[in-house]
Amino acid sequence: MLDLTGKNALVTGIANNRSIAWGIAQQLHKAGATMGMTYLPDEKGKLEKKVAELVEPLEPKLFLPCDVQDQAQIDAAFETIREQWGKLDILIHCLAFANRDDLGGDFSNVSRDGFNLALDVSAYSLIQLSRAAKPLMSEGGAIVTLTYLGGARVVPNYNVMGIAKAALEMNVKYLASEMGPQNIRVNAISAGPIRTLASSAVGGILDMIHHVEAIAPLRRTVTQTEVGNAAAFLCSDLSSGVTGQVLYVDAGYEIMGM
Ligand SMILES: NC(=O)c1ccc[n+]([C@@H]2O[C@H](COP(=O)([O-])OP(=O)(O)OC[C@H]3O[C@@H](n4cnc5c(N)ncnc54)[C@H](O)[C@@H]3O)[C@@H](O)[C@H]2O)c1
Repeated sequence: MLDLTGKNALVTGIANNRSIAWGIAQQLHKAGATMGMTYLPDEKGKLEKKVAELVEPLEPKLFLPCDVQDQAQIDAAFETIREQWGKLDILIHCLAFANRDDLGGDFSNVSRDGFNLALDVSAYSLIQLSRAAKPLMSEGGAIVTLTYLGGARVVPNYNVMGIAKAALEMNVKYLASEMGPQNIRVNAISAGPIRTLASSAVGGILDMIHHVEAIAPLRRTVTQTEVGNAAAFLCSDLSSGVTGQVLYVDAGYEIMGM
């Protein structure tokens, strides 16, 4: 049985009720995990208020600001986790960012700054958060990140985010190799296209969804809940022998050649 009772879980990347991170948080909570969330702070505190209201039913024990571009915020968040929880069992890395201009048009037009920004927020952040989590995962742990097929194959308009996802997927393997001896497992879920704030920045997301609905073996795309269930599996003892992997939760689209 999938049981996360007694496990402390930190979920990053909830922006609203469409966020994949929200789907994951709900399933972890349903499986009995004690919940903590981080949010991206904004100047007026609007996002904080919105996310706080959304996550309230999951009774989060921790609700912390964490912009991954600010190392001080990461340090402060994990210091609070250490003080309040003493240990961390589950880390969900579910965030990404690139300039909208870099998610369409000719790939070769990406600027150095745009490239660095996408790689920093979307890929380097997994290393930062995993490094901070490692000493707190004293009883072993599970780290799960979110990737997309555009990191392994060319998908129109995904452009620089594809490079960031390729880096992210290799991060998963190197982190899994480093942390395996401490019984920390690191895996990625490659989700099929879902309408969210982030995906709406990618040109033609609706066309991508319609394409998947026509081609994928299950003749549909996936839901946040399905991704959440897969994440709960990867965080539970049911997947105790699995690390360094990319699990496709995409209605089977990835297997199709034509
Ligand atoms: N939606 C899809 O079709 C799809 C498919 C496969 C993978 N993914 C991945 O899933 C993850 C979540 O995206 P989503 O689609 O749920 O969109 P979303 O917009 O709901 O989530 C993206 C999150 O990233 C956060 N974020 C951005 N910059 C940040 C920063 N500097 N510090 C901390 N947080 C920051 C945002 O606040 C937001 O919560 C991303 O990694 C995305 O690439 C999405």
